[in-house]
Amino acid sequence: MIRISYLMLLFWSHSSFSFDWQGHRGARGLYPENTIGAMEEALKYPVTTLELDVVISKDQKVIVSHEPWMSEEICLDPEGRRVKGRDHNIYKLTYQEIVKFDCGSIPHPRFPEQTKVNVGKPLLGTLLDVTEATLRKLNRKEVEYNIEIKSDPKDETSGFQPNVKVFSDLVIIAVQEKIPSGRFTIQSFDWRVLKYLHEKYPEIRLVALTEDEVRPEEDLAKLGFRPYVYSPYFKKLKVSDVKTFHEKGVKVIPWTVNEVADMRNLKKMGVDGIITDYPNLIPLAEQKECKEGYNYFEGKCVKIPTHGIPYASNPGWTCKKGHVQKRGRCVKIDVPTGAHLTPDGKSWECDEGYSRYRGTCKKN
Ligand code: G3P
Ligand code: CA
Repeated sequence: MIRISYLMLLFWSHSSFSFDWQGHRGARGLYPENTIGAMEEALKYPVTTLELDVVISKDQKVIVSHEPWMSEEICLDPEGRRVKGRDHNIYKLTYQEIVKFDCGSIPHPRFPEQTKVNVGKPLLGTLLDVTEATLRKLNRKEVEYNIEIKSDPKDETSGFQPNVKVFSDLVIIAVQEKIPSGRFTIQSFDWRVLKYLHEKYPEIRLVALTEDEVRPEEDLAKLGFRPYVYSPYFKKLKVSDVKTFHEKGVKVIPWTVNEVADMRNLKKMGVDGIITDYPNLIPLAEQKECKEGYNYFEGKCVKIPTHGIPYASNPGWTCKKGHVQKRGRCVKIDVPTGAHLTPDGKSWECDEGYSRYRGTCKKN
């Protein structure tokens, strides 16, 4: 982990950032997503905004979750069993039932560095209360919240969520109870949500999310108004798009950027902010660039060995999946017959029907 000195924290607390660094789902690369702990983890780094997703429960509560169901990738049922598909729709569960699911213990296949904890999905109100208390405790500059209404026409048709108006109203009421309008934005891929909010709550700043091709003129026409922010998938963004949106007074904040080189490149393109799963990379992205094959770590450029990738913890790099660190190098893991790599790619385990025997796997 990057070492954070008291002086650095003080600097982040009192300096004013014009660039908007957003912690995605809190800090998904480091802690189970969309949890209070993920927000607290993000606050260890110089984020200016916390990004999170919300859905609605059977008892009309606003729950922090990326899907309106318990995801099989991250959740265990109250008996500790893996959940399947969309078996547990959050809109059909009360908060008391929802909180019994553990969505933090399973090793995440794509984010192996996550701290593992038994944690349930929080209420939005509770998350905001705790996060605000943490900001005060740290004497840290206030952050904003970028809250995504996870609405989808298909989920509405299949009864997995309330209709757009009910959904949007519940979220706005829950947020406004805790946070002033100037400190949050509402985002959605479902532009019906944005159109409704634009009419009913014109003072709220809106973020138009898209995963499609970026077409500035067409998209603004489709939306029917100019949002506060346009938020595309970062690989679909061109420098000319940034320019066009800026000419129209719309900020551009792409998602979800997890490599320092991409962050630096986007900053050069003139984006107004970046959404990342790894807020611990922000200081690196802000610091001077090293030449190809090196990573900036703790004040100097360190050489990354073959099969290595830049990393924010000591020694400034880590090995790619399927390789392990040995005496300053990345060495390929020798996976024996009847075995496969573990999800984190750092070791191997025997296939089903095989058992470990003297450094190999033997058929049962
Ligand atoms: O804020 C943008 C980003 O969160 C969109 O992607 O699917 O992670 O919600 P997703
Ligand atoms: Ca989101």
